[in-house]
Amino acid sequence: MKKAAAIEALKFVKPGMNIGLGTGSTANHFIEALGAKVKEGLDVRGVATSQASKELAEKHGIPLTTLDASPHLDLTVDGTDEFDGEFRLIKGGGGALLFEKIVASSSRFMVVIADESKKVRKLGKFPLPIEVMRFGTKATAWKMERAFVLLKLDAKMVLRVKGGKPFVTDGGHYIIDCTIGEIPEPERLDALLTSIPGVIETGLFIGICGIILMGTPKGVTEFKRG
Ligand code: A5P
Repeated sequence: MKKAAAIEALKFVKPGMNIGLGTGSTANHFIEALGAKVKEGLDVRGVATSQASKELAEKHGIPLTTLDASPHLDLTVDGTDEFDGEFRLIKGGGGALLFEKIVASSSRFMVVIADESKKVRKLGKFPLPIEVMRFGTKATAWKMERAFVLLKLDAKMVLRVKGGKPFVTDGGHYIIDCTIGEIPEPERLDALLTSIPGVIETGLFIGICGIILMGTPKGVTEFKRG
């Protein structure tokens, strides 16, 4: 289902485009499919959202550029951890949320590719990743807790760990995963969290995604924001 959605996203790709390349298993299917088109002669350039995606794109022969060289991208194709009926997303399960958000918000439009398990009525089933500075992480976490209490949310916060050590993002930061449950006002939560010194970015993507391609056992369903 992930692969079917990824292949469907190729229909948005046009010659000459600069394309944001997402991160994660679904985005990997897209990078592979795009690489096959490049081998057939398609002229595009990619901007990777993580070291892993960069390496995969290189392996598949996709010419890469940077956001500094091409600050206005035509399209970004990326996966998600959750999406709701308002095209709001939770991303960052793979730890690339900051670069993903910078790249997607620099694109004329963002196409999200996902299998149907990612569709939720209300965001919050998936723990919300928050990227924070390594300096003063405990002080930042304490302020985050205050924000959750203010919104009457009972959040459990855990510093992401990999291989027995705190996980460090490509941007050099830590991630705090917040198990919240249903988030009634994602916009308000996002605004409160991003106003905290030390919070770099949240995994809430609001007003960025325009099209969702959802793979189902019966085929790919397309959702388009008005
Ligand atoms: C990476 O940081 C995430 O935002 C991914 O896009 C998300 O975790 C989806 O991953 P999968 O495509 O592997 O499900």
